Amino acid sequence: MRIVLGVGGGIAAYKVASLLRLFTEAGHDVTVIPTEASTRFIGTATWEALSGNPVSNSVFDDVHLVNHVRLGHEADLVVVAPATADLLAKAASGQAGDLLTNTLLMAHGPVLFAPAMHTEMWQHAATRANVETLRGRGVAVLEPASGRLTGADSGPGRLPEPQVIFDAAMALVQGQTDYQLPLAGRTVTISAGGTREPLDPVRFLGNRSSGKQGVALAVAARNAGATVRLLAAHMDVPPPAGVEVVRVETALQLREAALDAGAGSDVVIMSAAVADFRPAEVSDTKIKKRDDTADPVITLVRNPDILQELVQQRNAGAAGAGQLIVGFAAETGDSQGNVLAYAEAKLRRKGCDLLVVNHVGTDKVFGQDSNSVVILSRSGSEPQEASGTKTEVSEAIITRISFELNHVSPMA
Ligand code: CTP
Repeated sequence: MRIVLGVGGGIAAYKVASLLRLFTEAGHDVTVIPTEASTRFIGTATWEALSGNPVSNSVFDDVHLVNHVRLGHEADLVVVAPATADLLAKAASGQAGDLLTNTLLMAHGPVLFAPAMHTEMWQHAATRANVETLRGRGVAVLEPASGRLTGADSGPGRLPEPQVIFDAAMALVQGQTDYQLPLAGRTVTISAGGTREPLDPVRFLGNRSSGKQGVALAVAARNAGATVRLLAAHMDVPPPAGVEVVRVETALQLREAALDAGAGSDVVIMSAAVADFRPAEVSDTKIKKRDDTADPVITLVRNPDILQELVQQRNAGAAGAGQLIVGFAAETGDSQGNVLAYAEAKLRRKGCDLLVVNHVGTDKVFGQDSNSVVILSRSGSEPQEASGTKTEVSEAIITRISFELNHVSPMA
């Protein structure tokens, strides 16, 4: 496929190098057209080297090739990233002052804008009107991601992740008018890994959680277009790129981070293995074995149930009414009941909207790359099974969450 990649003059231009790589590695022939302003951020040499094609932003280069007409005509797809407020305005008003705006006027195939700018610019009535005009003409304009921006500010205006833009572009080419990714514009908080409850400066009570499932969920949510906050307890795997990471150690720290991040999130997924108990006392010094006193006895106290508190916070109106809260249940059946019966009781007790049930044993789930789960819903719909690699299971969970958010009215 022949792709024209227009690059606008914003700091996010550097991320577009990764987008270009995604296109070329998928076998597409990409011509990059940077605006004059964008070359202050990334020089044309970078685009030439990465695309393998000549790069110009002037209608007066290679005039005999009539590039200002030809590039738009021949392109199967035009993608503009970052689409600045200036570029959106120029495109909406049909200006043709440089090679990129000429190409946009000549484009015959689908056109996708991936905006990036400061929140106030994105929310300004002028930009809103320009976006509406473009969308009204059938041009695809992605929602920007939310999060930290270039200065001290944060909010909607971040360039969506390169993979997100790539997926949206491919969906657009396949004729999907519903090109917005299912979690575009949504914020998803995910806890991952296992908490560690200190006994003394060198010892802790921990668990076998590797964090792999939580990280896979973060990747799936990010790829579905969400802004992802990963609350990372102890994990054996590194956090993925393109997500905000908050490191925590204990259940109490996780509680604080989860209630804080959760308040501003559309979805909270508690996939962390939270210690139900912590030592009642934490010694400031290393506990020694001594012959003259009895061996120590560790007294445990209960940790707060974070999932339940998140539900209470939502129900008290401190988070959006449509917020979706997802719990995980690690269950082992016993003589008193089977895994699903225990899980259904847990779903009712915790009050979350979805409960992802893992059947655990010492050889199952923890640290493994594959998984098999059942998703239970508070609305009482049929249990949904998902199995495969943790990536596949995570994609199924995120698809289900997107469905609940986009098609099911909020549950009170
Ligand atoms: N969880 C939590 N806070 C806790 C304990 C667990 O938020 N103090 C969350 C986990 O992240 C998970 C869900 O609750 O999403 C279920 O955890 P699990 O340990 O399976 O359930 P428990 O509440 O410990 O119930 P039980 O001990 O009866 O199995």
